[in-house]
Amino acid sequence: MEQATIMQTAKNPQAQKKDGIPDGKQPRIRRVVAFVGSPRRRATYEAVQELETSLKSHAPVDFEYVFLADSHLGFCRGCKLCFDKGEEFCPSRDDRDSLLEKMTGADGVIFATPNYSFHVPALMKNLLDRLGFVFHRPRFFGKAFTALVAQGIFGGASIQRYLETMGSKDRDSDGTSEDEC
Ligand SMILES: Cc1cc2nc3c(=O)[nH]c(=O)nc-3n(C[C@H](O)[C@H](O)[C@H](O)COP(=O)(O)O)c2cc1C
Repeated sequence: MEQATIMQTAKNPQAQKKDGIPDGKQPRIRRVVAFVGSPRRRATYEAVQELETSLKSHAPVDFEYVFLADSHLGFCRGCKLCFDKGEEFCPSRDDRDSLLEKMTGADGVIFATPNYSFHVPALMKNLLDRLGFVFHRPRFFGKAFTALVAQGIFGGASIQRYLETMGSKDRDSDGTSEDEC
């Protein structure tokens, strides 16, 4: 079996224990959705399965996998209508809204991806691009978030930081917002 290094962190708007499992004071995580950015069901998928097992050893959890390779999600066309007028003006008619609904309906969200050439693969990047309006106008509050990166050798730390930035409420705290137009 192929060896893969797995990197994983947990983010929650409120405090969490170091292992990412909420302590007794946290609202219990009942519904988790994992967005899997690998085109195949190998290391990344297996890592998410381990996380699922770990979570379920603490409490019952409704756990859903979204394999982006099986989703119908066209590339962002760059029109910015979602930013300027509203997401309903996006010219692409595909699975975007159903993926968004899955996030909305979950209280724990996982972005799981392999390292492809020191970044996320196109499947995962396209999801993030298509949800760009969410990252500019945050709407998900009070959810737990975890990023998980599988890789062969090297480069995953920056990918992990990138996904944490996308999934956390602290997006403005790394200074990158000053570069935005
Ligand atoms: C196109 C491509 C690019 C990759 N680039 C890197 C890389 O830059 N660094 C690395 O450590 N592993 C890299 N890998 C290895 C994968 O990250 C690794 O095999 C990972 O476990 C694959 O996850 P999966 O089994 O879920 O597909 C690359 C693999 C592919 C197919």
